[in-house]
Amino acid sequence: MKLKKLMAGVMVGIMAFSMAACSGGSAETEGPETQQQSDASGESKTVGISMPTQSLERWNRDGSYLKQQFESKGYTVELTYSDNKIDQQVKDIEGLIAGEIDLLVIAAIDGQALSQVLKDAKDLEIPVISYDRLINNTDVISYYVSFDNYKVGQLQGQFVVDTLELNLDDTSKKYNIEFTAGDPADNNAPFFFNGAFDVLKPYIDAGILNVPSGQTEFQQVATKAWDTATALTRFQNILGSNYSGGTQLDIALCSNDSTALGVTQAIDSDYAGTNKVLITGQDGDEANLANIVDGKQTMTVYKAVANEAIATLDLGVALLNGETPDESLISNSGWDFECIYDTESYDNGTGTIPSYLLTPTVITKDNIQTELVDTGYYTLDENGYPKGVQ
Ligand code: GAL
Repeated sequence: MKLKKLMAGVMVGIMAFSMAACSGGSAETEGPETQQQSDASGESKTVGISMPTQSLERWNRDGSYLKQQFESKGYTVELTYSDNKIDQQVKDIEGLIAGEIDLLVIAAIDGQALSQVLKDAKDLEIPVISYDRLINNTDVISYYVSFDNYKVGQLQGQFVVDTLELNLDDTSKKYNIEFTAGDPADNNAPFFFNGAFDVLKPYIDAGILNVPSGQTEFQQVATKAWDTATALTRFQNILGSNYSGGTQLDIALCSNDSTALGVTQAIDSDYAGTNKVLITGQDGDEANLANIVDGKQTMTVYKAVANEAIATLDLGVALLNGETPDESLISNSGWDFECIYDTESYDNGTGTIPSYLLTPTVITKDNIQTELVDTGYYTLDENGYPKGVQ
């Protein structure tokens, strides 16, 4: 299939060059910014985008932003959502590859489940960008674009330390904390959890932070599919088993907003204490931002996926132009957001994947206006609740 396209391209190239030679112009045709991007055979270049689900709020924004960005540069976009079903995502990616795409952008449901299907992409020399979540055990991954996931967790852990003014030299104040992490199939989830736990472990070791449930290992606190109802049920069980006798819960460290929503609902329904529990999250989901405005959730870590899409666009265009981007992509693209080029942190089992990592932001009630509304990412509805701009 590639050979056919290549041969057709040679003919088109010869025709274009001869016409240009006659007219004295360049073989390159001028045109508007959104001129169609065509391959050697004159066919429109196509970008295949595979998103995990629409049931977790952020991915709707990711898919929409990515589609907008690539279409704005004249690419044809095929966008799929796989309903958080691993087999469906494999089928969706098979369909994209069969559709003769020129670039694949994938946010994996299960980072271990795509090795086989991506062999076809390798055979067809389709570059693959691992988007937001690292895809493992395949050497077809060209690059990884995400946020600094370990830092997301560190920000959550440090927020707890700073808010409660924890001090390793002062063991007189003690607090009870419980952890809720993400999907074990998601390569990001351990990074989030470890980032937070590594900040808080010294305080646990010093006896300043206690974990009444005893659940401090990732596998114990993980939440399949990041599911809100699963997080709710698990936390109701933790409250029933460890907090029914008047024990106070001070902190619920949740890796993201969909799990924080379930934990908050469990605390609302099943926690007998009257204190305000410090609850963390990630993503800036609308329901959680409303809870932050209402004082039910304390913070979320916001990741401007609009910028993640811009970084992915510029990386994808470079790959489609046959380039091998490196750190200079950041400075050459003139991005107005922070991004680091990392060639050490993300080994996907076949070697370290060069990564572009954007910087996450702590959001509390105090900076929703400046960080989310003034930046244009959200508007405020009539109740003062942030609504995502799509
Ligand atoms: C993670 C993603 C987070 C989190 C979760 C659920 O991989 O980086 O933003 O929300 O998935 O979508």
